Amino acid sequence: MNRDRLLEASLRDLIKLALRPYLIQPYFRRQEQVDFVASVTGEKPAALRVLEREFYEKHEFRSRLNQSLIEKRGRILGPGAISGAGFYMLIRVLRPANMVETGVFDGITTSVLLLAMRDNAHGRLTSIDLPAVGEIKDSTHGMPSGQLPPGCKPGWIIPDELRDRHELLFGDSRELLPRVLAERGVVDVFMHDSLHTDEHMTFEFDAAWPHLRDGGVLLSDDIFAWGARNCFRRFCRRHRLDYWTWGALAAVVKRDGSAAS
Ligand SMILES: C[S@@+](CC[C@H](N)C(=O)[O-])C[C@H]1O[C@@H](n2cnc3c(N)ncnc32)[C@H](O)[C@@H]1O
Repeated sequence: MNRDRLLEASLRDLIKLALRPYLIQPYFRRQEQVDFVASVTGEKPAALRVLEREFYEKHEFRSRLNQSLIEKRGRILGPGAISGAGFYMLIRVLRPANMVETGVFDGITTSVLLLAMRDNAHGRLTSIDLPAVGEIKDSTHGMPSGQLPPGCKPGWIIPDELRDRHELLFGDSRELLPRVLAERGVVDVFMHDSLHTDEHMTFEFDAAWPHLRDGGVLLSDDIFAWGARNCFRRFCRRHRLDYWTWGALAAVVKRDGSAAS
């Protein structure tokens, strides 16, 4: 090999090497996601991969969301949509009868939760969202767009045929969450994804925890948000709980202690 070709080959290899983390990162993120769900649910990774594939084969569902996003937002689902598979696997395996979530925004994750419940032929979801119409700090900062599209209500993207298992309440979770939890009594899964401040997240965790059944799961998105100040870790330390994370999504399982009736 002459000197020029050697240089050219080395340059090509260097570029490939530099690009490699970006090319293989999604692969590792998917592996980690399966490991995360396996740890939270106790399900075998092989069984989870079947569910992951089932989710990726939902072409019609994804294309429905993309069409709506193009229409209202001028974009399609981003790389973050990989987390949809994680939520799908979690709900398929946990099979919650009663789930409560805070923070809906467009309704992309909520659609996935409802899709999994439809495939389970089991479960009801109650969602609480304070509509993001002005600037709501520390909650939509991580989203590709910070506000709802003009004229749209939270959850606008949820396909109509998935709404029969859903109750969607608009308002501050500080007011609505205690009421909803008192009405439900015991919940199987609670997920926080509303206002990511230390005070608000701690309020929601403390409100939801007594209502989770033994073996129930508390999920929190965005645990590393600037305003969150490590509150998820503090909550777990306070209750002496082990927890798992996948990126900024965290989960903790309630092992003992009784839920409010
Ligand atoms: C991060 S977004 C939710 C994203 C959604 N879970 C998803 O993954 O597609 C946060 C949502 O919480 C709402 N929110 C902010 N403060 C809230 C509060 N105090 N109570 C209820 N919802 C709130 C915001 O308006 C926004 O719609």
